Amino acid sequence: MAVIIDGKKVSNDIKDELKAKIAKLKDNGTEVTLAVIQVGNDSASTVYVGNKKKACEYVGIRSLAYELPNEVSEEELLDLVRSLNDREDVNGILVQLPLPEHIDENKVINTISPKKDVDGFHPQSTGALSIGQPGFVSCTPAGIIELLKRYNIEIDGKECVVIGRSNIVGKPVATLLLRENGTVTICHSHTADLKTVAKRADILIVAIGKAKFITSEYVKEGAAVIDVGMDRDENGKLCGDVDFEDVKNVAGAITPVPGGVGPMTIAMLMNNCVMSVMNR
Ligand code: GUN
Repeated sequence: MAVIIDGKKVSNDIKDELKAKIAKLKDNGTEVTLAVIQVGNDSASTVYVGNKKKACEYVGIRSLAYELPNEVSEEELLDLVRSLNDREDVNGILVQLPLPEHIDENKVINTISPKKDVDGFHPQSTGALSIGQPGFVSCTPAGIIELLKRYNIEIDGKECVVIGRSNIVGKPVATLLLRENGTVTICHSHTADLKTVAKRADILIVAIGKAKFITSEYVKEGAAVIDVGMDRDENGKLCGDVDFEDVKNVAGAITPVPGGVGPMTIAMLMNNCVMSVMNR
């Protein structure tokens, strides 16, 4: 039976470490402030934003909440982002995605100052990551690497297979695995013989948004399996892209959903906020 990777516990450990760091910063007169913008009232976004605010409160980060109506114009939103860019007391800016259709997400992301881009979505951040220069790393990929490290799962020299090529998870996590000297393959919907490629992996990262798609047939004995999915099964229950009950019998280590990668995303956001004060 696989080791169950406890993302909830690791994320709590990280938040406690950050809490101590933030208290020290405060003693030296430095406050960390995150501005969180939500447009409209998408229920999933409201839950995510609520969790981010709660985490800020726990670690001692000041959070400024901006809740804009669904009908807000693109220009108004861009003006708010620009004004937050200019504010010296704001270190991090996060615009919760997705945005309503009449707003160009890329325009909004590109307007956030790279110095305050705690989501790591700005092209300057993603570009810096790809050529090994300093910058914000997006939170879910950073959280995955942190989980592997804290469970002593070696990346150096290992076969790493990433299924999914999104800008938010697949591409950056592949870059990070490469940076850790993994041998990295990225698979996607056009990959021929996905099973054979996936079965090569010592570390298998799955981020495709398809409930329980990855069964034990895709997994090598003893592999570490990281499930980034947040899906619903046939009964409406939260599940991942990996068929956990099946895969846990062959994997060496596996993340559950919920309680695996999800909590790590927020912990790494808090970490990015602490790093953002260095950019003042
Ligand atoms: N929507 C879903 N995940 C994320 C995230 O990590 N950051 C932002 N800004 N929006 C999201």
